[in-house]
Amino acid sequence: MKTKILVCRAIFPALVERLSTHFDVDYNDQDAALPAEQLAARLADKVAAITLLSDRIDAAVLARAPALKAVCNVAVGYNNFDLEALTGAGVMATNTPGVLDDTTADTVWALLLASARRVVGADKWLRAGQWQGWQFHDNWFGNDVHHATLGILGMGRIGQAVARRALGFDMRVVYHNRHRLADDAEQACNATWVSRDELLREADFLVLLLPYSPATHHLIGASELAAMKPSAHLINVARGGIVDDDALIDALQQRRIAGAGLDVFENEPALDGRFLTLDNAVLTPHIGSSTYATRLGMASLAADNLVAALSGKRPPNLLNPSTFAG
Ligand code: GLV
Repeated sequence: MKTKILVCRAIFPALVERLSTHFDVDYNDQDAALPAEQLAARLADKVAAITLLSDRIDAAVLARAPALKAVCNVAVGYNNFDLEALTGAGVMATNTPGVLDDTTADTVWALLLASARRVVGADKWLRAGQWQGWQFHDNWFGNDVHHATLGILGMGRIGQAVARRALGFDMRVVYHNRHRLADDAEQACNATWVSRDELLREADFLVLLLPYSPATHHLIGASELAAMKPSAHLINVARGGIVDDDALIDALQQRRIAGAGLDVFENEPALDGRFLTLDNAVLTPHIGSSTYATRLGMASLAADNLVAALSGKRPPNLLNPSTFAG
């Protein structure tokens, strides 16, 4: 009898086929999260699961899934996992770092450039038939990106990929991270470590690339936004919840900062309706890693993690090493 696994949400058919050669796969082929009760019920007799960032795995779910050995997220972020509860239950947890770094860094730049140069507003204005003739001094002035200061909060792999791209824009790059990068890594992306206060004060473009956790909840709120330059733009492709959306909407409405490029929101997809009225925010629906090749790479890596976990091998992206018996 094959081992039972759950694929919690529609991924790629070829991967489900690959998993089916090893396992008895219970597949939710809808691209919608299972409601919490259904997720718990379908996990109850499973040994492992491929999960998406919309699937909450916590102590209550684990209590109903005594055979569970591994949950393999198709995402680099894993705030949908209660990692402490998973570790306590001896369940391996994995994520998909690395394969999405460049694509997500590209998304940062798409939002940054769009926000700085008001691309979305200008496009809407043109489509609305408002363009009567070329203008010189009232012509959708934006902010220069070249030679500006890029500030990165959270300097992991994606942060470094964002910083490397700034070399082509002749920017000064400053960053803040709990751990300072090694000298050669700093040099490779021409980045200088600064305190968090200095980062907020100095950045013309502040890019958030931190994981979301209780420690980073509302890390950017009213006082942090007040510390930023009035000409600055905030770019968030990390997680909603790192920013206090209420405070951000207020700052954008009052033009206390110039603009924002946002791919993630608190309580997404039910974002605060006031965002929709802002002409100085560019909004995208959590598409940071969304190219076919990258999403396929992420799903393949999650499948690799799952196959390793159930073959007694250490999964390549194990988040809680103490669960691996070796
Ligand atoms: C996407 O948000 C991810 O964490 O991979």
